[in-house]
Amino acid sequence: MVLLFTAEHVRRAVPPERAVDAVRDAFVAYARGEWTMPPKVYVPAYPAGDFRAMPALGAGFALLKWVTSFPGNPSRGLPTVSGLVLVSSAEDGRLVALLDAGAVTALRTGAAAVLAAETLGRPDAETAAVVGAGVNGEATALAFAARGRAPLIWDVDRERAAAVAERVGGRAAASREEALAADLVATVTPGREVLLPAGSLRPGQHVSLMGADGPGKAEIAVEELARAHVFCDDWEQASHGGECAAAVEAGALGREDVTALGDVLAGTAPGRSSPEEITAFDSTGLALQDLAIALAALERRDELDLPRVPLEGGGAAKGSA
Ligand SMILES: NC(=O)c1ccc[n+]([C@@H]2O[C@H](COP(=O)([O-])OP(=O)(O)OC[C@H]3O[C@@H](n4cnc5c(N)ncnc54)[C@H](O)[C@@H]3O)[C@@H](O)[C@H]2O)c1
Repeated sequence: MVLLFTAEHVRRAVPPERAVDAVRDAFVAYARGEWTMPPKVYVPAYPAGDFRAMPALGAGFALLKWVTSFPGNPSRGLPTVSGLVLVSSAEDGRLVALLDAGAVTALRTGAAAVLAAETLGRPDAETAAVVGAGVNGEATALAFAARGRAPLIWDVDRERAAAVAERVGGRAAASREEALAADLVATVTPGREVLLPAGSLRPGQHVSLMGADGPGKAEIAVEELARAHVFCDDWEQASHGGECAAAVEAGALGREDVTALGDVLAGTAPGRSSPEEITAFDSTGLALQDLAIALAALERRDELDLPRVPLEGGGAAKGSA
């Protein structure tokens, strides 16, 4: 029998503050070489969207996330991101659990945005904002709120911004400019419009760029990214499908200019170097973050009345979290 975590089970199992801690530990384990992560595979189905196959191995488990990004879906009442996470035992290879990929993705995306903001932002940063209040923007806003910073929310859909602000205990921004002026900014839009043109960030600000997680998307201008101290989740991914990709292509950024967040968290690379520095985190989303959330969910499995799928697996197998 294989355990099934629906979206609701995932959310009940892993509160946002636990997600931030779990994702931090996963970045560190990966930076230390304890966890491994073969490259994400994109399966394009453009113009409708794309599929991604994302594997990772760590803490005695292997994970595969099969997930989408179909940006036109919300207008049809469907989620942009959906799919399934499979977790197997790395001891005997048996399938242990299936988890709703949308819920896992939202939790780990919000967690990474806030973790980067807390790690790279100024220690005296006060205000936080989320631009783009869809599924993953709301998760980011929840993570900020859970960590004690009620965020400002901006979305081109003003009603959505207001609804999310109310749900997370934040405030809808009066304008995009107000949101983008916060000390810590997370952008979680579809990446079809540059939100941060050249010269728009002020000294000391931090921005977590979450939306541009695939080829052809951008939330920041290349010139503006080049003005910042740039951090990424993973160089291979970021330089191929993230904000860094366009900057690398334009010759504005090289590998030596970009630091992995995990190295900062593991203490092997410096983070922010001065109060005036602008810091930017380019996130493309890593399977290791998904593994972090899946393992945190498995820790709580005995407290939840989980459905069991009658597949040959090891839901109760030795070695489970
Ligand atoms: N980096 C990661 O790990 C990661 C993870 C998941 C999703 N994503 C990406 O994040 C983006 C958002 O995903 P989602 O699932 O939340 O999508 P969604 O469709 O649920 O939400 C997108 C939101 O952005 C708003 N928006 C669109 N253009 C805007 C603009 N110019 N200014 C402000 N708001 C704007 C929309 O109204 C909507 O509310 C996608 O591009 C997705 O691929 C990245």
